[in-house]
Amino acid sequence: MTTPIRSEREGDVLVVVSDNPPVNALGAAVRQGLLDQMTAGLADPEVKAIVLRCNGRTFFAGADISEFGKPFVGPDLLEVIERIESGDKPVVAAIHGTALGGGCEVALGCHYRIATASARLGTPEVKLGLLPGAGGTQRIPRIAGVALALEMTALGAPITALKALAVGLVDRVVESEDSLVTEAVAFAREVADRRPLPRASEKTAAPDPEAVAAFRKANARRFRGFEAPEANIACVEAATDRPFNEGAAFERQSFMTLMNGVQSAAQRHIFFAERQAARIDDVPADTPRRATGRVGIIGAGTMGGGIAMNFLSIGIPVTLLDMQQGALDRGVGVVRKNYEATASKGRLTTAQVEAAMGILTPTLDFAALADCDLVIEAVYEEMSIKKDIFARLDAVARPGAILASNTSYLNIDEIASATARPQDVVGLHFFSPANAMKLLEVVRGAATARDVLATAMALAKTIGKVAVVSGVCYGFIGNRMLAPRHINAMKLVLEGATPDQIDRAHVAFGMPMGPFQMEDLAGVDIGWHRDPTRIESVRDALNAEGRWGQKKQAGFYDYDDRRNPTPSPRVAEIIADFRKASGLAEPRTDITDQEIIERTLYPLVNEGALILEEGMAQRPSDIDVVWIYGYGWPVYRGGPMFWADTVGLDKIVASLDRNGFEVASSLRARAESGQGFS
Ligand code: 3HC
Repeated sequence: MTTPIRSEREGDVLVVVSDNPPVNALGAAVRQGLLDQMTAGLADPEVKAIVLRCNGRTFFAGADISEFGKPFVGPDLLEVIERIESGDKPVVAAIHGTALGGGCEVALGCHYRIATASARLGTPEVKLGLLPGAGGTQRIPRIAGVALALEMTALGAPITALKALAVGLVDRVVESEDSLVTEAVAFAREVADRRPLPRASEKTAAPDPEAVAAFRKANARRFRGFEAPEANIACVEAATDRPFNEGAAFERQSFMTLMNGVQSAAQRHIFFAERQAARIDDVPADTPRRATGRVGIIGAGTMGGGIAMNFLSIGIPVTLLDMQQGALDRGVGVVRKNYEATASKGRLTTAQVEAAMGILTPTLDFAALADCDLVIEAVYEEMSIKKDIFARLDAVARPGAILASNTSYLNIDEIASATARPQDVVGLHFFSPANAMKLLEVVRGAATARDVLATAMALAKTIGKVAVVSGVCYGFIGNRMLAPRHINAMKLVLEGATPDQIDRAHVAFGMPMGPFQMEDLAGVDIGWHRDPTRIESVRDALNAEGRWGQKKQAGFYDYDDRRNPTPSPRVAEIIADFRKASGLAEPRTDITDQEIIERTLYPLVNEGALILEEGMAQRPSDIDVVWIYGYGWPVYRGGPMFWADTVGLDKIVASLDRNGFEVASSLRARAESGQGFS
């Protein structure tokens, strides 16, 4: 086996180099190579000090996550770190890029750390449902104190090299990457004879119960449902009241418990699923990209404005078109207000706000879109309007420009048929609020060109979105699966469950809100026929009374001035009246949360199976990514398809059968063969 670790001599300094692209993950071969080179360096009388550095774009970015959940191949990372720290020669970590997870822990096992100014250090294991399992929870508080250790471990927040310097996590910062190695070698020589060697494990960490209590309180909401944050906190506390070895043993045990649990498996699944989603099976990675230097947006409403912000924020100029001056002014005003709100929280400077606003060009003139490389239509969901716009766009857009629709439901192929260039047309379905939500559904039409798709996927990454490709079907992946959830939630209401009970069951499951809270937020009147005398559903009855949701302070819930919901007695009456008028059975009182989850989320999984059967999603994990980033599905449950596997597909099929649903044939086949989705 060729080793990714080699060493070179710079006089009396040994430079150990890792070369394991793309991110120098600490896989078995790296660990073995490090152990061998360190052992040799420590034994060599000619070597006075050792520098540890990495080639490529980054210092070690952590343990190799792809090894997790598989049989372990030694040596252990702990052994490597122990060899470095306990040796009698100074070891200097030379850090560039991101020293993350196990990478950060290796650096902390070194006696000294030197980093480039642009480097970052962090222990993001909590995002994988884990904790730093190679001494991180024990060494960080010993060097930098409990408060920062909690942020770095339980929140997984990385810190800059300058911050690390200020708190003692690095000893020196160099401006440029070019001089890192030279400076690291010089530093190693400087400290070669200095004794005792500074060892983080030999320091003590002062207990800080106030910091722990404040941290728990401040993050209670964010941590709801997750196991890993509390495990990180417990380990950091252990660093303050136990000797290093005992704390490290506790950390190891906690790490293994998390590693063997479902939550970490789910979060690791999502880590890879998100990266996999960026790949389109028949679009090679080297497909040429089209230009995206200037973006046009049609429609200055909430969606149009939110979409514009994605581009403005990273310096891509936007031409924003609306048909009416008033709407245009309002749209521009909202964009400014959003930026200013961010600035008032200290997350943007006034100069940054002005820079973004300075590259926004509002216009009423369709011809102004002529120099745009990408135009995104974000107007009312009505096919005839969209077709009309695309026909006009076809007449003005430059050849090769990408023409995109932000439709949430409509047929991209039909929209494309209004142009003479269907190969340039694609769906870019942003989720509301479009400046904040991370999901982008990229809808592939029958004629969409490969380079258009490649460009859309790359652009999504540039603006910080996670893109998933969907085929053309009503509601695409996400909203199509939402439909059965809502239909069945309403059926349960008619049988006797309350909207509040159903929402609470979903929130307890881990969703940010339930189906009825979501309807109130989006608008109960969306898609309503607008005839108050036509009452064919509970929803019609609500709309007829003007209960259109949060915007009216009344929907499925009553709202106070601060938009706090309370269950509505009036809605209970409306439901009871509708039940009576429709001749439905007496309401049941025995509906459990379990029944609610089974009858609302199993049909959603079933719809996911249909989507896969029809080839509308490339892979089950893409569906999981849609639900995590578009709808707030709890990441510790890994998305609906991963979750279905953890429940057991046979159990899901049996429940669907029992409740009279039509089961997707592929779901039944998977259940029968024992083959899961992931
Ligand atoms: N293990 C295995 N593969 C990894 C990896 C890791 N730790 N980190 C990244 N990769 C892979 C990615 O899967 C991707 O592979 P692909 O090209 O085949 O899809 C490739 O490296 C490049 O990654 P990104 O696309 O994410 O590249 P970016 O430049 O956008 O980001 C990064 C780089 C910031 C390092 C980001 O990859 C990242 O955050 N990685 C995870 C870091 C992490 O969580 N480390 C902790 C691991 S757990 C641990 O260390 C346990 C220890 O405490 C014992």
